[in-house]
Amino acid sequence: MEERLYNFGMIGLGTMGRNFLLNMADHGFAVAGFDLDASKCTLLESTATKNTIAKGFQELVAMIASLEKPRKIMMLVPAGNPVDQVISNLLPLIETGDIIIDGGNSHYTDTLRRIQSLEAKGIHFMGVGISGGEEGARYGPSIMPGGDEAAWKMVQPLLEAVSAKVNGDPCVAYMGKNAAGHYVKMVHNGIEYAIMQMISEVYDFLKKKVGLDNTEMSNIFQQWDSGEMKSFLLEITADIFQVKDTETSHFLVDMVLDQAGSKGTGKWTSQDAMDLPVSIPSIDVAVAMRDLSDVKEERMQAAKLYPRKGRKISSQKEAMIRDTQNALYFSLVLAYTQGLSMLYKASSVLQMNIPLDDVVKIWRGGCIIRSNFLDIFYTIYKSRKGNISNILLDKAIAKRLKKQVPGTRRFLRTALQAGISTSGISSAINYFDAFTQEKMPVNLIQAQRDYFGAHTYLRNDKSGIYHSEWKPLSTPGIHE
Ligand code: 6PG
Repeated sequence: MEERLYNFGMIGLGTMGRNFLLNMADHGFAVAGFDLDASKCTLLESTATKNTIAKGFQELVAMIASLEKPRKIMMLVPAGNPVDQVISNLLPLIETGDIIIDGGNSHYTDTLRRIQSLEAKGIHFMGVGISGGEEGARYGPSIMPGGDEAAWKMVQPLLEAVSAKVNGDPCVAYMGKNAAGHYVKMVHNGIEYAIMQMISEVYDFLKKKVGLDNTEMSNIFQQWDSGEMKSFLLEITADIFQVKDTETSHFLVDMVLDQAGSKGTGKWTSQDAMDLPVSIPSIDVAVAMRDLSDVKEERMQAAKLYPRKGRKISSQKEAMIRDTQNALYFSLVLAYTQGLSMLYKASSVLQMNIPLDDVVKIWRGGCIIRSNFLDIFYTIYKSRKGNISNILLDKAIAKRLKKQVPGTRRFLRTALQAGISTSGISSAINYFDAFTQEKMPVNLIQAQRDYFGAHTYLRNDKSGIYHSEWKPLSTPGIHE
């Protein structure tokens, strides 16, 4: 008979679930995991560090009965129906005060619905974003919990122990009310999409226009992965260009089909941004480009119909690479800018009270978008207590970006002339150019709306709402 009580239970012992438990066991907690698959239970136990306590259960009832109260149960299962299914399996087995944690990438509106229905039953339900992939789960992810504050206090010591640390600070903090945890994770992923798109554009340019091979590419990304640009995504990009295919003599990256997959979090970010509304064009195009990559057959036909000359540059390679670095620096900052401005707006519109200073603090380590930029942002957000609607408004950011703009424009000019698609980086500078001008040309859009639909407009010299007759009086010979 099993007598020991475990501190934490996990439903789903896939790689993420297993690694998260092993991490927790390494920090001195007794952990239990449930999976119908016996081999996964065995793997949990056999891979646990010696003298740590990790037990696999093939029966849910037994696993739940083995947990200390209030029970703390996390699920790491695919978003959607599987989450509801797990909840309904758990309900007869748990009691008032127990905590269910959804650590997957659930849509925040689903999380909200689940919080409300379980609250009525006296069960705490927390939507918790976890980032860092398999490695992060094992050795320290960034964790974004939200919702019930009482439940957060109860799981705080466990989550702080397993999270990544930056200068000793845990990469976990309370992200706000309701479904804030999953909301923040969704926007994290939106930023992740934009950054990956921008890096892929730079890769395309360096390959097609500058003529770098994979080894040179790896060296360049390695060089860039330092100082303020140091980041997880640049680091893994440099690694990727070194790997050879085991079946052919080619580099593995060249054998990967150019069709990008997605599980929905980028799309959700764009959809929600439109609903708020808030402008995040670089995330929007990142989603759109993954979708466009999917029509491979059509692209192959189109490539024949619209052939490119594709001449590589023969001189000034170094200068071109410097401009490319400027463009990447610039657009990466703009990717974070747009995501953070979305969180700022969502925090008040959706009444989640998201502490933006804590968001950037816990993104500094463990997560996929971790980078030294976040250290800079943290200093800014901390000094303003999270209260800055758009990071472009900060003088320290302005000083940095101004240095990158000329190179970014030169990069884009060359890419455009060469017919290399740079929708992520272009969208970043277009956002910047619109945001940093006092007058946008939308006075004309307002006039057009009022012309054809009497939608009215505001004036810039006096208050009030106006409608005008825009059709010019007919002048013989012009309108007839
Ligand atoms: C993370 C990642 C992760 C996500 C993958 C794949 O933070 O660890 O965001 O949660 O599932 O990045 O996402 P896509 O399949 O949508 O690219």
